[in-house]
Amino acid sequence: MPRIPDDFIQQIRDANDIESVISSYVELRRRGKNLVGLCPFHNEKTPSFTVYPETASYFCFGCGAGGEVINFIRNIENLDFFEAVKLLADRSGLKLPDAQYDDTTANLRRRIYEANREAARFFHETLFTEKGKAQLDYLVRRNISPKMIKHFGLGAAPDDWHALEEHLRQKGFKQSELVAANLVRYTEKNGKRHYYDAFRAKVIYPVIDLRGNVVAFGGRVLDNSKPKYINTSDTLVYKKSNELFGLNFAKNGNDRKLILCEGYMDVIALHQAGYENAVSTSGTALTPEQVSLISRYADEVALCFDSDEAGQKAVRAALALFSKTGVKIKVIKLSGGKDPDEIIRVHGKEMFAKLLNQADNDTEYKLSKLREKFPTATDDGKINFLREAVKVLAFTDALERDVYAMRLADELGVSKEAIMQQINSVNKKEQYKKAKNELADAQKQAKELEKAVDPQRIKNVRAAKAEDTILISLLNNGAFYKKVKDKLSSDLFVTTVNKRILEVITERLEKDESVDITHLSQYLTSEEVSAVARLLANQAMVSNTVKECEDCITVLEDERRKREAPTPSQMSDESFLAFFSSLNKDDNDN
Ligand code: GTP
Ligand code: MN
Repeated sequence: MPRIPDDFIQQIRDANDIESVISSYVELRRRGKNLVGLCPFHNEKTPSFTVYPETASYFCFGCGAGGEVINFIRNIENLDFFEAVKLLADRSGLKLPDAQYDDTTANLRRRIYEANREAARFFHETLFTEKGKAQLDYLVRRNISPKMIKHFGLGAAPDDWHALEEHLRQKGFKQSELVAANLVRYTEKNGKRHYYDAFRAKVIYPVIDLRGNVVAFGGRVLDNSKPKYINTSDTLVYKKSNELFGLNFAKNGNDRKLILCEGYMDVIALHQAGYENAVSTSGTALTPEQVSLISRYADEVALCFDSDEAGQKAVRAALALFSKTGVKIKVIKLSGGKDPDEIIRVHGKEMFAKLLNQADNDTEYKLSKLREKFPTATDDGKINFLREAVKVLAFTDALERDVYAMRLADELGVSKEAIMQQINSVNKKEQYKKAKNELADAQKQAKELEKAVDPQRIKNVRAAKAEDTILISLLNNGAFYKKVKDKLSSDLFVTTVNKRILEVITERLEKDESVDITHLSQYLTSEEVSAVARLLANQAMVSNTVKECEDCITVLEDERRKREAPTPSQMSDESFLAFFSSLNKDDNDN
């Protein structure tokens, strides 16, 4: 497959300034000549995601994600290299040079989008025919208005094993494309495949992504049979753990507040009641990816989970996930029904408005949990409750602390001053403990990260450092290559990632081609591009001299000798002594 020519990559890079591209996904703040923000690839409260306009690259010190503008788009939009280039080209009005690129994934992805769109149209139209009558009756019985049916594009899968497949085959889709879209499934019996429509006799909820593509469907049975829902499995265009139902509408609200609930029907009922900021997971526990996504669109989220035990467990899990972000959480306590849809249907939308209004923020939620744990009817209970409550308040802001101290003073019959004093003393201790824990967490995370990224680096610290220095020097000064190439061979490198990077850059330097990170991107995997970004982020650590490169090559040769040296038990006394003194020499060097 031909590669995309360098000068076109250069045009892409020039037309898509890294700072402005990343800014449309991440809020960036200037820090010196660089910019920092909260990493969109993992959840964090303090920014470790850095954008380097000088090298047109980015790197996150928290999770190791890095690269240039194409790799950023590749990861944030979940595309392959070619698709990311295409997206950036379209965005900046550039036309890809004609050639036969490897676009099989891109093509299949496009066909899945088209099949889904056509399927959504088919389901929606069926809803208003005889074959969709039961489904329409069902929606009407559940008080869903015609307007909402249109708005969400709700539909009906007929009670038929092949209706959708036949319709889509007629429209020119291949069976393999429909299987890839998960619209058609198959079982295998005696080596023969039997194909059938994934959705039969269901009410259909299309899932639409942020760009308006139909990416999946949820289908609900019309009675009490199990399973209640069938959902599209993960496909090339859909990752259940990364999507939120309703976010395509909710993202347009401009007050950056979302209501997060559990079911398709809840989202629809809430929209119908005027809450266009409702979204839901599709029957999965909330994931870190969804939390990241939410934090891109909201500063405040009202959790609206079922009032049953499972729902309350989900609330606690969600609080833990959101505590790693800056998003403020309210917990809506549902009463009078198990979910928002039921509450609105039975008690009207005013009831929901009231519950939302009363919604406890994080502090109130924690306090009410403490009250349950330590009933304050007895003096003992009061003391225990207060001891824990001041710990909660120690982390709130001054205003909130003041308000709650006043309320607790009233509630417990103690003076507000006494409570404030307690808070202040806890404050110092807890802040210290928290800072210490955070540091320990960060260290642990950093260790895990390094292991996860490349266990070879841990085993070969000295060699890996020398490799880094050589690569950084070559990335910065392509001209060094001619001066060191006779001694430099990729056999000297021990870590696979660095070795691969060296091979790609030497191949290009041999041909006098640019080793700018953007130009390397199409020859490397996304992880390897991240590794190049890590090198660039650490470039201050090298002094950029040929001498330093040569020294590092010597280190690598030395390391190789050690690796290949016989183990002490295999050595003669004489060579053991020589080996032993060479080890001591290293110690003196360090
Ligand atoms: P209604 O009963 O129609 O009101 O549905 P609901 O949206 O209230 O469903 P529920 O609260 O029971 O479940 C919440 C979400 O979990 C649903 O919207 C589905 O996305 C998902 N879900 C529920 N049951 C199943 C199931 O049996 N299989 C799968 N795959 N998902 C389910
Ligand atoms: Mn429900």
